[in-house]
Amino acid sequence: MRILVIGGGGREHAICRALRRSPLVTALYCAPGNGGIAELATCLPLAATDIAGLADAARHERFDLTVVGPEAPLAAGIVDHFTAEKLPIFGPTRASAQLEASKVATKTFLQRHGIPTARAAVATTYDDAIAHARSQPLPLVLKQDGLAAGKGVVIATQWPDVEATLQQWFRSADTQAILIEECLVGEELSCIAIASGSDYVLLAPAQDHKRLGDGDTGPNTGGMGAYSPVGLATPTLLERVRRCVIEPTLHGLIAEGRPFTGFLYAGLMIVDGNPYALEFNVRLGDPETQAILPRLQTDLVPLLVAATEARLGTPTLQWDRRSSVCVVMAAAGYPSDVRTGDIIHGLDTPQSADVTVFHAGTERRGDTYRTGGGRVLGVTALGHDLAAARRSAYAAIQHITWNGMQYRRDIGAARANTLT
Ligand code: AMP
Ligand code: GLY
Repeated sequence: MRILVIGGGGREHAICRALRRSPLVTALYCAPGNGGIAELATCLPLAATDIAGLADAARHERFDLTVVGPEAPLAAGIVDHFTAEKLPIFGPTRASAQLEASKVATKTFLQRHGIPTARAAVATTYDDAIAHARSQPLPLVLKQDGLAAGKGVVIATQWPDVEATLQQWFRSADTQAILIEECLVGEELSCIAIASGSDYVLLAPAQDHKRLGDGDTGPNTGGMGAYSPVGLATPTLLERVRRCVIEPTLHGLIAEGRPFTGFLYAGLMIVDGNPYALEFNVRLGDPETQAILPRLQTDLVPLLVAATEARLGTPTLQWDRRSSVCVVMAAAGYPSDVRTGDIIHGLDTPQSADVTVFHAGTERRGDTYRTGGGRVLGVTALGHDLAAARRSAYAAIQHITWNGMQYRRDIGAARANTLT
C-alpha cells in the first residue's frame, strides 16, 4: 500500500515509524514531514492545511490511504474534501472534528449526552464572565473557545489572575466566547480510541505532563512528556472510560448525524476512580503517540483501513508489555517566545536499541540540525518497567544538547516509585 501521513511533528514521526513496520506498506510519504521523518518517508513540501494541494498529491501519487496527524486540516474539512473525491482518508469529518475545534460546543455536547465533565458556564462578554467568576470559588479554569494547541487554558488561583486573563482575552477581537469551569482535582489520563461509527478499539492509555516545569509547575504547554502504560488505568477504570465516556460520545455523534471515524482522544481527569472528560481531541496526542505507538505490536495499517471502510469491528490489540517513557525536549522560550535556530548537538550519537529520538521542531541544514519550533525532540525509551524506561530515556538525553534546551526531569516519576 502507498500511504500518505499529513503533519510534521513528533506525533507524525511516531506514526510514520509504526507504519514503516507494516509489511503492507510499499511506499510512505509525509507532508510536510521533518528532518527525522525524511529518514523513513518521502517528504512532500506541502503544508498540512493545503487541502487542495494534498488532494492533488493523493490523486497523482495514487495513495491507498491518507492518515491525518494534526487537528487543523481536520477542522478545515480535509476528510470531507478527500471523501468527495473518492480519495481514501482516515479521520473525522469537519462536523465531527468540531469536538476539538470548539471547547464551548464540546462542553454543551458533554452536557447534552450526560457524559461526566466539570461544571462550566459560557460567557460572551467580559462583564458576564467577571460576574459569573465572582460567584464561584477559586481556583477557576478559564478556557478560550477554539483551537489553541492545548494552550488556551488558564487555571487561576487568585482574583488578579482571573481579571487579567479575562481582560486580555476579551480585548482580543478573536475572543467570542469563553468557558469558566470548576477546577477538578485528580490525575489526568489520555485515552485514545481508533473509532469508526459505533465500533472502536482503545489504545493503551498514556499520561501526559502538561506543565512546563518539574512537579507540574509553570505554564501549560502542548505536553512535555508521556508514559505508557499507566498504573492508574486499571481494568475497572478503563471499563468506566468505555461506558461513561467513549461509547456515549460515539453514540451521541451518531445521534447528531455526524458519526466519527478517526482517532478519538479523551483527555480525562480521574477523580476518586471516576473519569471526567476535560476535552476531546480528534487526533492522536502529542507526545502520547510517541509513548504509545512504540508499544503497539499489532499492525496499525489493517486497523486504519478497516476503520476507514466502516468495518472495524472490535479487534484485540497486542502490546509490548514493557513500559515506555517519552521526554520532550523544548526550545529556549517555549511555550511563549520560542527561539529557533540553535544548533542541536549529539543527534548522531548512537543510542541503544530501546531508544528512539522523534523529531518535532527540527530543521536540517546540510549535516546540522537546528531548533525550528517549540517542542524540538521527543526521546522515547522502552524498559522492563517504568523506572527502567525512565533511566534509559534520561541516559539518552544526556547525549543531546543545545543552547536554552528545556526538559522535565520527572516524566513518569510520580508513578515510577510506586510501580513494580
Ligand atoms: P484542555 O485543553 O481543556 O484539556 O485543558 C488543558 C489542561 O488544563 C488539561 O490537560 C488540564 O491539565 C487542565 N484542565 C482543564 N480543565 C480542567 C478542569 N476542569 N480542572 C482542572 N484542570 C483542568
Ligand atoms: N498532549 C496533548 C495533546 O496532544 O493535545
